[in-house]
Amino acid sequence: MTDTAALPARVCATRHFDFSDMSAEERYRLMASTIMPRPIAWVVTVSADGVVNAAPYSFFNMFGADRPVVALGILARPGRPKDTAANIRATGAFVVNLVPFALAEAMNQTCVDAPPEVDETALAGLETVPSLAVPPPRIATAPVAFECRLTHLLETGPGQLLAVGEVLHAHYARRVLTGDPERPRVDAAALDLVGRMHGASAYTRTRDLFDLDRPLWEGGGTIPSKE
Ligand SMILES: Cc1cc2nc3c(=O)[nH]c(=O)nc-3n(C[C@H](O)[C@H](O)[C@H](O)COP(=O)(O)O)c2cc1C
Repeated sequence: MTDTAALPARVCATRHFDFSDMSAEERYRLMASTIMPRPIAWVVTVSADGVVNAAPYSFFNMFGADRPVVALGILARPGRPKDTAANIRATGAFVVNLVPFALAEAMNQTCVDAPPEVDETALAGLETVPSLAVPPPRIATAPVAFECRLTHLLETGPGQLLAVGEVLHAHYARRVLTGDPERPRVDAAALDLVGRMHGASAYTRTRDLFDLDRPLWEGGGTIPSKE
C-alpha cells in the first residue's frame, strides 16, 4: 500500500491497493462496493433433468445490440458450481428477468443457497410462463424478460465464469411501453427497476435522474449516437 499525500492538492489523495496481495474476499468487497449501481439479472435456468432454477446476478449488463449480447459474471462456489452455472453449461440457455421494486423481496428470496433439486420460483411463490425459444421459462410478473442462448462461456478464474448470451426474444409488459406501437419507448418510471449497491443488502431505485446534453464536435467530426 502507498499513499499519495505528497502530490499537489488538486490530485485527490488516494490509497493504493495491490490486488495480488489481497484475498478474493477483500477484492470482492472493494470492487462490489464501488462498481455500482449494478443492474440485476434475475436469471432463470433449467437443469439437464428439467428442474427450474432462479437466482439474482448483478454482475450483468448488455454488451452490444448487433448482435444483442448480454453477459453474467458467475462466481465460484466452494464444493459445487452455482446451479445457474451448471444449468447454463448443460443447456446453453438462460432467461434474464429484470427486477422492479415491487419484486425486490421475491428476488431476494431466490438468492438462497438451495440444493439443485429446489425450484426457487416455487419457493418465492412466483408464476412462470414458457419461453418461446429456450427451455427456461420467464417470470410472469417481471416487466421485462430476455430469452438468451449461450454464445460464450469463459472461465475467468478458478470456477469463475463469464456467460455471454445472445438475446433471441424479449418480452416487455405493455404497461411499461408508451408512444407509437411501431417504435415504442420504454417508460423508465413504470419499470421502476432496482439496482444492487454496496454490501450484502443495499439496493437503489432508478428514480433520481438528471440529463446531460451530449457535446457536438465543432470541427465536423462525428460522434457515436447509440451508446
Ligand atoms: C442482488 C444479488 C445479486 C447477486 N449477484 C451475483 C453475481 O453477480 N454473481 C454471483 O456469482 N452471485 C451473485 N449473487 C449470489 C447468488 O444469487 C447466490 O449465490 C445464489 O444462491 C446462486 O444461486 P444458484 O446456485 O441457484 O445459481 C447475488 C445475490 C443477490 C441477492
